[in-house]
Amino acid sequence: MENFNFYAPTYFAFGKDKELEVGQLVKRFGGTKVLIHYGGGSVVRSGLLDRVTQALTDENIAYLTLGGAMPNPRSGLVYEGIELCKREAIDFVLAVGGGSAIDSAKAIAAGAVYDGDFWDFYEGKPVTHALPIGTILTISAAGSEGSPDSVITKEEGMFKRGASGEAFRPVFSILNPALTLTLPAYQTACGITDMMAHLYERYLTNTKNVEVTDRMIEGLLLALITEGKKAIDNPDDYESRANLMWAGMMAHNNSCGVGRSQDWASHDIEHELSAEYDCAHGAGLAVVMPAVFTYNLSHNVMRFAQIAVRVWGCQMDFEHPERTAKAGIEAFRQFLISIGMPKNFDELGGKVADIEKMAHNACYGNGRGGYVGGFVPLAEADVAAIYRMML
Ligand code: NZQ
Ligand code: ZN
Repeated sequence: MENFNFYAPTYFAFGKDKELEVGQLVKRFGGTKVLIHYGGGSVVRSGLLDRVTQALTDENIAYLTLGGAMPNPRSGLVYEGIELCKREAIDFVLAVGGGSAIDSAKAIAAGAVYDGDFWDFYEGKPVTHALPIGTILTISAAGSEGSPDSVITKEEGMFKRGASGEAFRPVFSILNPALTLTLPAYQTACGITDMMAHLYERYLTNTKNVEVTDRMIEGLLLALITEGKKAIDNPDDYESRANLMWAGMMAHNNSCGVGRSQDWASHDIEHELSAEYDCAHGAGLAVVMPAVFTYNLSHNVMRFAQIAVRVWGCQMDFEHPERTAKAGIEAFRQFLISIGMPKNFDELGGKVADIEKMAHNACYGNGRGGYVGGFVPLAEADVAAIYRMML
């Protein structure tokens, strides 16, 4: 195991009706004037936004609202939010929604205390300062409610890029699984896929002797398989929604990723797809991951065989471990298909892509030096070959 520092100070309030505590929580973390940031309107339709504003009013906390963060959130709205925060002396940003609203809120919170262009952070500048951020999560997926990350798409050129920094960790996150009962099956499945991806990205490591985090990842994957199926089959099942919600946080706040090298090739390759085609991040990952894993299989057959046996229940073939490894990837692929995820480019709705351009952007975007992936460094030609496997 490698040395590490881990500091994840988010306060979690989990369970039914927990959003009613939002006023007290904002107060506890020093907010006096709040920007409430949300997405395309699901939180308005569900009545959640009204409950949130009432809870703030009950605590005499002033607020402004800014909706419109779309899936694959755009830079234009971030600039608008920053301007609003500066003009109105906002001192707390509250995201109500999914990863897109939260990531957009994080970008606004950083930009509001920065004199330069917030996009600097998405070109590699570390995020050291931001207004305090709180979240009320409505979909189990991205893990942004506990992560130090944010992903934004710049409209000019449609570049999708990530930024990171401890200042991006929310000071509190309210997780009420009942808020996710209204999710369409497709969004639930996209979320399950993304959570599994966050675990696989960490599992694919070159660090030896990481049994504790291996077992945590395997346990979370096993739980996601059973609870994910239950939530898809019975969308009103609060208990499976609750398990998914905590799994999503655990999968990405990096408690499972400490002390080990990580991969992230699938995410970097997927981000070009969702930038180019505006597809859901989870759906893109469903197509990308089996291709990446198959391409990288020979790098460490035993790691793929281990997850095949421990998570997917495959029989170990000691004479031909690569058969076990492949069976594990296929079992994962079939699981994704069974929950309604696309299996190739066509089903993702992508017109024939400019593969060379996407491969180039994946390898050189975000200040990367010509490669993606910490498990196997993949150059442009490798990434292009992987995109072709998805056709
Ligand atoms: O926008 P609204 O109207 O709220 O509708 C959303 C959106 O259409 C809808 N939705 C959310 N909660 C709902 C609901 N509909 C009905 N009932 C509810 N309770 O679902 C759709 C998807 O929402 P979105 O926020 O886009 O989903 P998700 O949480 O998957 O976020 C995706 C974004 O997160 C980024 C992705 O790249 C993508 O841009 N990621 C962020 C990460 C991070 N910050 O740590 C890590 C991830 O790997 C990921 O890259
Ligand atoms: Zn993800």
